[in-house]
Amino acid sequence: MLDKFLSVRAHSETLCKPLLVEDYSVQPIEFVSPPKWHLAHTTWFWEAFVLSKFATDYKVYHEDFSYLFNSYYNNVGKRVLRPQRGLMTRPPVEEVYAFRNYVSKAVAELLATKPDKNILDIIEIGINHEQQHQELLIYDIKYILGHQPTFTVYDVGFETKAEIHKADFIKIDTGVYEIGHSGNSFCFDNEFGRHKVYVGDFEIANKLVTNGEYLEFIKAGGYRDFNYWHDEGWAWINEHDIGAPLYWHNIENDWHHYTLNGLKKLIQKHLFCTSVIMKPLLMRNGKDAACLQSLNGK
Ligand SMILES: [Fe+2]
Repeated sequence: MLDKFLSVRAHSETLCKPLLVEDYSVQPIEFVSPPKWHLAHTTWFWEAFVLSKFATDYKVYHEDFSYLFNSYYNNVGKRVLRPQRGLMTRPPVEEVYAFRNYVSKAVAELLATKPDKNILDIIEIGINHEQQHQELLIYDIKYILGHQPTFTVYDVGFETKAEIHKADFIKIDTGVYEIGHSGNSFCFDNEFGRHKVYVGDFEIANKLVTNGEYLEFIKAGGYRDFNYWHDEGWAWINEHDIGAPLYWHNIENDWHHYTLNGLKKLIQKHLFCTSVIMKPLLMRNGKDAACLQSLNGK
């Protein structure tokens, strides 16, 4: 557990290595949190839910930090509201790193005392929580750097990938399926409440969408035909004059997209979405719907 804890803590900081200190505090839009906030919030979590409760004689690093870096845990106290996270130029980045070191050291000391299962379970949630924020951190860093006028490069080694699966459709039959978490392994609370759902038959592609396929959708007038959109989505693309995905730019009739490797020409055969995780959420008769799991060969 200690190794896992330390490696996850280190990974959050590794993700921020390419940033300049100026990149850490900005919040270009409400749904993007500053990287500094993620680093501090994931640290506050350990202080609030583990150290303050279970570490003997633990002294909080700074009494204001709970107010500054709580997110939405109403029962833990007041907090800075989400749209105002980018206003916090204080504490400085350097102090947030000192806060992280202080807290990581205290959690490591607690783990050295061989705490009971109850505490280890909460530590596991803390690790999962920090990993969840690492995903958000990447999204938010991409938004921050991808909205610089110069399309700042985050990682010169980053490459989008080609779709290698042969296109086909998988048929899912009408039936009653179960949805939600089962078993004793970790899950988040919103996965509880396993229940049955009735699903009409449908087909799902056995592969992910490529840039070229998405481009076909645009060229076919996908953003100009309300038939392809739910009412809320249609209102949204009209209100914001949306004609392409976020990070796609049409430059002199040539499509480019911003990736973590800067602004590049769109490669049609590459994946539109680089996510390759697809879990079999639907189960039928208690057996995994293996066809869904195999979509990505995982
Ligand atoms: Fe959080």
